[in-house]
Amino acid sequence: MTEATLNSLPHSAPVDKDKRNWIVATCAVGGVGVAAVAVPLVSSFQPSEKAKAAGSAVEVDISALKPGEKMTVEWRGKPVWIVKRTPEQMATLPKNDRLLADPKSQRNLPEWTPEYARNEGRSIKPDTLVVVGICPHLGCSPSDKFQPGAQPSLPDDWDGGWLCPCHGSTFDFAGRVFKNKPSPDNLEVPPHMYLSDSKLLIGEDKKA
Ligand code: FES
Repeated sequence: MTEATLNSLPHSAPVDKDKRNWIVATCAVGGVGVAAVAVPLVSSFQPSEKAKAAGSAVEVDISALKPGEKMTVEWRGKPVWIVKRTPEQMATLPKNDRLLADPKSQRNLPEWTPEYARNEGRSIKPDTLVVVGICPHLGCSPSDKFQPGAQPSLPDDWDGGWLCPCHGSTFDFAGRVFKNKPSPDNLEVPPHMYLSDSKLLIGEDKKA
């Protein structure tokens, strides 16, 4: 299943984080679909009935996830991205700090960035990012822009990350929003923990 519009909200509507559904394509700019195809997608929305139960944690096998790949699972009706960053992608993070609105993820603590993700990569493991794929501005789903370099709607020195097609918020490979963008926050890091090297639990973090 491709990421598709599940619902739409008027942009002027107040944002309710619990009720907000993700909006993807309705406000997309040209080229988004092409860029998304270029990014390897391991799987989409794996959990089904079990995971759809309200509030249930989702167990995810990430053993097939390779460096540079992203997989998407559903948790509480939201898309959660699991990204295995390459060494090159991780190397972009420290140099972004001065360009970011909240480089240390101090906003909306503790729920927006759990303590174990309050580091440069916003992650438990340095190479593996787990974030909710919903823009904190008005709920669109940002597009993968993993390819560095100049391209439409991005700066010429783009190092890779995500672009929200609705109003142009950009996020680095740790899901941190760049300065002077509409998004008031970095991408949310959901509660999560590792059950083993290859198994993640999204929605619970008691043992993290
Ligand atoms: S929804 Fe407005 S920038 Fe993402």
